[in-house]
Amino acid sequence: MCGIVGYIGDNKAAPILINGIRRLEYRGYDSSGISIIEGNKIFSEKSVGFISELEKKIDGKFREGTLGIVHTRWATHGAPTIDNAHPHIDCTGKISVVHNGIIENYNYLKAKLKKEGHSFKSETDSEVIAHLIESYFEGTLEDAVRLALKDVEGAYGVAIISLDDPGKLIAARRGSPLIVGIGEREHYVTSDVAAILEYTKEVVYLDDNEIVVLTRDNMKTTDINNVQITKRVDEVQWNLDKIEKCGYEHFMLKEIYEQPQSLRDAMLGRFEKDSNHVHLGGLIDKENDFRNTRRIIIVACGTSWNAGLIGEYMIEEHLGIPVEVEYASEFRYRNPIIEADTMVIAISQSGETADTLAAIHEARKKGAIILSICNVVGSSIAREADCGIFLHAGPEIGVASTKAFTSQIAVLSLLTLFLAKIRGKENVLNNELANKLKEIPVQVQTILENEDKIIEIAELFKDSNNCLYLGRGYNYPVALEGALKLKEISYIHAEGYPAAEMKHGPIALIDKNMPVVVVATTDKVYSKILSSIEEVRARGGKVIAIASEQNNEIAKLVDHVLYIPETIDALVPILSVIPLQLLAYHMAVMRGCDVDKPRNLAKSVTVE
Ligand code: G6P
Repeated sequence: MCGIVGYIGDNKAAPILINGIRRLEYRGYDSSGISIIEGNKIFSEKSVGFISELEKKIDGKFREGTLGIVHTRWATHGAPTIDNAHPHIDCTGKISVVHNGIIENYNYLKAKLKKEGHSFKSETDSEVIAHLIESYFEGTLEDAVRLALKDVEGAYGVAIISLDDPGKLIAARRGSPLIVGIGEREHYVTSDVAAILEYTKEVVYLDDNEIVVLTRDNMKTTDINNVQITKRVDEVQWNLDKIEKCGYEHFMLKEIYEQPQSLRDAMLGRFEKDSNHVHLGGLIDKENDFRNTRRIIIVACGTSWNAGLIGEYMIEEHLGIPVEVEYASEFRYRNPIIEADTMVIAISQSGETADTLAAIHEARKKGAIILSICNVVGSSIAREADCGIFLHAGPEIGVASTKAFTSQIAVLSLLTLFLAKIRGKENVLNNELANKLKEIPVQVQTILENEDKIIEIAELFKDSNNCLYLGRGYNYPVALEGALKLKEISYIHAEGYPAAEMKHGPIALIDKNMPVVVVATTDKVYSKILSSIEEVRARGGKVIAIASEQNNEIAKLVDHVLYIPETIDALVPILSVIPLQLLAYHMAVMRGCDVDKPRNLAKSVTVE
């Protein structure tokens, strides 16, 4: 949600900043802006809409400046207008600030600053930071920033430059990610490594309440009380091809096609040689806790929540440990019951979702042990958890999550096998879960090879206004995920339901204009789902079934069938969701939607 890039060094800042912020456009794209210090002037430019609009505006300007900041916005306080776009500038016109996050006490601060004579140009919470810094400025920018941030309540990732203390790029974080990139006689700051990967892989992840002062040659990190901190330098493991489209029309399609590989990467090095025993490096030292866990609570949002539901079914089926799945946003405010032997699993692709982060804070307060399942290494949730498992899916840039979802299920399967090992559940280790999991990447590949049939179906239903998705058992969360994909990127109203619940409401909506996607693989509840299909057909609804490839009868009962390979029930979701991802993708593209940047959505929701 929103993106920040800052640069200080020997090179011209403008192209670096624009290049970087373009890579973060997937995080927010309603407006953008840039400030660059050139000679003894600070130049700023802002625009509404995509970054390409900003690029047009600055074409040929800012030729020489080697210090600057840029921002892409996803509006929270105030509409996407030029005035509300960042950077925000103080009254003197010398201090320029970009901000991610939310300043919770901005109304109070704004009123106070106004009384002191400051004049505001925007409706944003962020602008107060620029004026606060101005009010504290006595010659040293970092001192003023420190004092200003002490007044601020809420979350921030900020980058600041000032004409009165040039040669410095200052950044600070609390609750909103910020990363420093180290180059040759240059430094970068960004809210997401993707922005700077082209220039450096050496990074430092800032922690909450840290302030960093960057000059061309130096980096100094302190806490908010000015106590110096030594930071570790990490190396980013991704390559540039991971953040480029590589010939695909959209990132989403590329990421759908990456799934055979991302699933292999989720398993890589995690099975002991020729065995079903799983080794998870991030859980070393925690085996005792896991042996004694009597209850698991999974907290997550969006697609990650849907994956969590599959985790619930899987862990309960294989290990008999009670699992609850909670929306992180609900969990954090409802005084949840956590006992000494409760484990909380936070699932988050980005590792930055504000509600999930707050949920783990709540769980920690109550003494739970916290395990994270994240994709982004170095993310807040991954770092704050007691232990964790990374997805290793590579960066996911399409706003609609695809490969992260299937990797989350794969990792939940690995976790199930790991827990089975340490809890002595030999029957689970010897059953089919491990072997079938190893077959999954090849099976996903075969589904991708049948894209043409999915395109035909997309063509038939692309003009629908509504769509219902049904599934039972392990395929119920898949129905939710299929519906979520469709509504996110095509703006067709879509609902996912447990198939039998259709009778309790959605059936009233069914007529000949209602496509109903039924995930009807040959599993424990197959005969039950056939009844739901009959009920839809009896009311004229059009049924698109996702079925197992050995199923010879279903084609006679439904309008269209998309076949997937056979596997065990617990792993079916990894396969059954693939046609639904492609269906949503193609319907959205046919409707002319921008699938990588769907309206109003953000890839990583770092505000409540
Ligand atoms: C946003 C994204 C979704 C994602 C959800 C949770 O809504 O658009 O794709 O599933 O956040 O994000 P997380 O990074 O925590 O998995």
